[in-house]
Amino acid sequence: MTSPVHVLGIETSCDETAAAVVADGRGVLSSVIASQVELHARFGGVVPEIASRAHIEAINNVVEQALADSGLAGGDIDAVAVTHEPGLIGSLLVGLMAAKTLAWVWDVPLLAVNHVYAHAYSPALEAEPIEYPAAALICSGGHTALYRCEGPTQLELLGTTIDDAAGEAFDKVANILDLGYPGGPVIDRVARGGNPAAVRFPRSLLAGQSLDFSFSGLKTAVLYHVHGTPGAVRSKKTTPGAAGLSTIRVADVAASFQAAVVDVLRAKLRRAAKQMGARSLILGGGVSANSALRAAVTELAGQCGCALRLPELRFCVDNAAMVAGLGYHYRRAGQVAGLDLEARATVRR
Ligand code: KG4
Ligand code: ZN
Repeated sequence: MTSPVHVLGIETSCDETAAAVVADGRGVLSSVIASQVELHARFGGVVPEIASRAHIEAINNVVEQALADSGLAGGDIDAVAVTHEPGLIGSLLVGLMAAKTLAWVWDVPLLAVNHVYAHAYSPALEAEPIEYPAAALICSGGHTALYRCEGPTQLELLGTTIDDAAGEAFDKVANILDLGYPGGPVIDRVARGGNPAAVRFPRSLLAGQSLDFSFSGLKTAVLYHVHGTPGAVRSKKTTPGAAGLSTIRVADVAASFQAAVVDVLRAKLRRAAKQMGARSLILGGGVSANSALRAAVTELAGQCGCALRLPELRFCVDNAAMVAGLGYHYRRAGQVAGLDLEARATVRR
């Protein structure tokens, strides 16, 4: 039997500093995540300058902890995989520099990983390999994208958001409803006590065959519903804002907003799966932790006879195990990066 290939993964694209060691692309030996969420909470979103500074402070300890937890030494690592796109440029650079340094010191290949592709790979961690072709819906604070996947490293973008990402809409609506940050988990929880049919919020871009998304109109519709229409929109600073709504009203608005997002996501995933004859449906990214979305996609998979691949909850949020796992497939394919690998904030469509 050949010995397993151990890949160290590093992820710093947004506000989580993460490192992990994965064996043969699927066995997670360690996964360490240092979250900065408390640093950004009072700003209601991620502040890029604060994020990169916090990554610099955390990265060495996080990598050391991931190695220690895996029970391996630096010399046992066969390759270093790193998220180099897309993300906050200052944040990406911290992980990239750490990965380049380790790859150089250990004299092992450096593997370049796209953060969104890594989310699409996350259901394969600690699980059976994914059956392809697969339709992958990746929704997070920064991304909402649909892919046709022919393999772990062969992804074709079918549609993306033309404005806000789905997670961003959750965060902004939570802010409108005075529910705190990050908004996704709290809306998910509060919505359980509300009526999803209480308010009929708009479902954007459902007509025609488009696989793109738009959530800014929905966010504005919630804002007007809560604070009144333009002209009548009152500043949150001078009015009690959502605090003026009863608890049950807040729950109804949260549930109705969530239902609108889930309807659109489900419809587009269904359309993509049908078009490509998908064998699997993949959900990834922070929003894939949403209970209503998971339920809707579970039902959809049953209807279209596809295998449903949901990541474990610990692999829904930003983590480095998905980076190390996907990196393994680049190494197998001989797609190794040079030490001149660059960070890219955005990826051209
Ligand atoms: O993938 P992720 O950890 O980071 C990014 O790459 O952005 O996603 C974070 C996003 C946040 O917008 C957060 O509000 C959202 O995922 N999120 C959720 C839930 N848990 C996290 N959205 C809806 N429902 C949830 N349960
Ligand atoms: Zn992410």
